[in-house]
Amino acid sequence: MMINPAENELKKSSPKFWISSILIISFLVYTSGVYTSGTATSENNPILDAAAIEGKMLWQKHNCSSCHQLYGLGGFIGPDLTTTVSRKGDAYARAIILSGTKRMPHYGLTQQEAEAITKFLFYVDSTAIHYKR
Ligand code: HEC
Repeated sequence: MMINPAENELKKSSPKFWISSILIISFLVYTSGVYTSGTATSENNPILDAAAIEGKMLWQKHNCSSCHQLYGLGGFIGPDLTTTVSRKGDAYARAIILSGTKRMPHYGLTQQEAEAITKFLFYVDSTAIHYKR
């Protein structure tokens, strides 16, 4: 059987034409929205600044994760530190980081290094929205 090409055409009167047009227009509107407003981040989005990045490097260098968890991942000898700074305060965290405890090693870190790790913990804390519900 021969197919008449005219019958197969998308006629303006057919519902297919209108549905396709609406879909194409919606796609274009949505896409232009995504590309112009982008995936804009909110004002109070946490920033991993230079000090916090240094803290993260120190965290990795000293393998703090062998005893501590962040977001529930890590060792279980020490407590989860995800929200330590907001629960117990940064002065407390800094003091323990600097001097260690009976069960936590003393790393001989400088004030500035302890500060950097604390900044990193602040960053982690600020992203821990599920812990604070
Ligand atoms: C050998 C295991 C171990 C390692 C490694 C370790 N810690 Fe700890 N840490 C502990 C233990 C255990 C505690 C709980 C305090 C105690 O009971 O003495 C603790 C407590 C803390 C606390 C206070 C937490 C709270 O909620 O009371 C902070 C902050 C902390 N550690 C940071 C660090 C950082 C930063 C590093 C890496 C530089 C690190 N720890 C490495 C074992 C460890």
